[in-house]
Amino acid sequence: MEYSDPSTQPEILLVDDTPEHIETAVSVLCDHNFKVRIATKGITALKLIDQHLPDLILLDVYMPEMDGFEVCKTIKRNPDYIHIPIIFLTSSNDEESIKKGFAYGAQDYVIKPFNSSELLARVNTHIKLKQQTKSLLQANRELDSFCYSVSHDLKAPLLSISRLIDYLVLDYSPRLDNDGHELLDNIQKKSNELIMIIDHLLEFSRMSEMELRIEKVDLEHCFRTICSELIKLEPQRKIQCIIKSLPIICADPIMMKLLVSNILSNALKYTRNKAAASIEITSAETPEEYIVSIKDNGEGFDMRYSDKLFKVFQRLHAQNEFEGSGVGLAICQKILQRHHGRAWLTGKIDQGACFSFSFPKQ
Ligand SMILES: Nc1ncnc2c1ncn2[C@@H]1O[C@H](COP(=O)(O)OP(=O)(O)O)[C@@H](O)[C@H]1O
Ligand SMILES: [Mg+2]
Repeated sequence: MEYSDPSTQPEILLVDDTPEHIETAVSVLCDHNFKVRIATKGITALKLIDQHLPDLILLDVYMPEMDGFEVCKTIKRNPDYIHIPIIFLTSSNDEESIKKGFAYGAQDYVIKPFNSSELLARVNTHIKLKQQTKSLLQANRELDSFCYSVSHDLKAPLLSISRLIDYLVLDYSPRLDNDGHELLDNIQKKSNELIMIIDHLLEFSRMSEMELRIEKVDLEHCFRTICSELIKLEPQRKIQCIIKSLPIICADPIMMKLLVSNILSNALKYTRNKAAASIEITSAETPEEYIVSIKDNGEGFDMRYSDKLFKVFQRLHAQNEFEGSGVGLAICQKILQRHHGRAWLTGKIDQGACFSFSFPKQ
């Protein structure tokens, strides 16, 4: 791959403290029309990245003061830098460093002294991958905003239809026979369903577009408040909800509320047919993340289809048994992705389900 147009020349940040290595790498890369910036210390590299994002980083492992692993860790911790590919520069017998580099989030490594065609091949591959990832992210954003526009534009005529049905019920009800009433009733139900689906789709798109406002969020308080609000809506039911000690996390409070309310609504919905519903919320932790689980004793589901559940409109229960749009879990997943967390659901038919999510510690 050659980059003759200066405006599209990829920029590489070379972080190394050995003059001979710098010289070799710069000569190979400049010969192939890459722009190269050089940092001989980790701390200088971080300053340069701050000023201007490079397309790729070539990072030496051993440097005085701040070594390559420390630099890599700091870069990968910053969401703005996470997509910059990092290639470690190691020596041939340093397997431990290669392993450690991958563990810290590096994409690849090149062995010193460089073989120029190998260095070029790896740099080109990762730049191409980065460009493809960028196009995919852009396409995804366009899809999200398309989804938002369609939902938004559909909502107004749908609300009009719903109002027209209300007028029809009010003004023409006395003139209809039983079949007419039944038909009108069904139209009204379907129109409300559509409005609910559109609202959920709008919420889904909003979760992609909304800017994250990170604050401290007390998960335990969040679960307790939303749980008691939801239980109040169904006073006739016997519901036991146990909330164990949950962590305080750094997250967007509005998104977390939506996440918690979606998970708890599901737990309450799918335990509806049980004489006594039991919901238990617990948390565990590893050095890197918290894991929160919401376990219920409801209908459960067939694990064979579990990979479908987080996709928009995918449902495993019939609408006439359990109403819903099939967008709730997709919203939860989107919220967790935006916080670099993960979600999964386990269950067994008639033996309850357990929704779990992981949330990185900052
Ligand atoms: N707690 C649960 N117990 C059993 N099944 C669940 C539970 N939560 C989610 N599901 C399954 O996952 C599907 C998708 O959930 P969701 O996206 O929230 O949509 P909805 O609740 O609107 O159907 C549900 O239709 C249901 O089949
Ligand atoms: Mg739901």
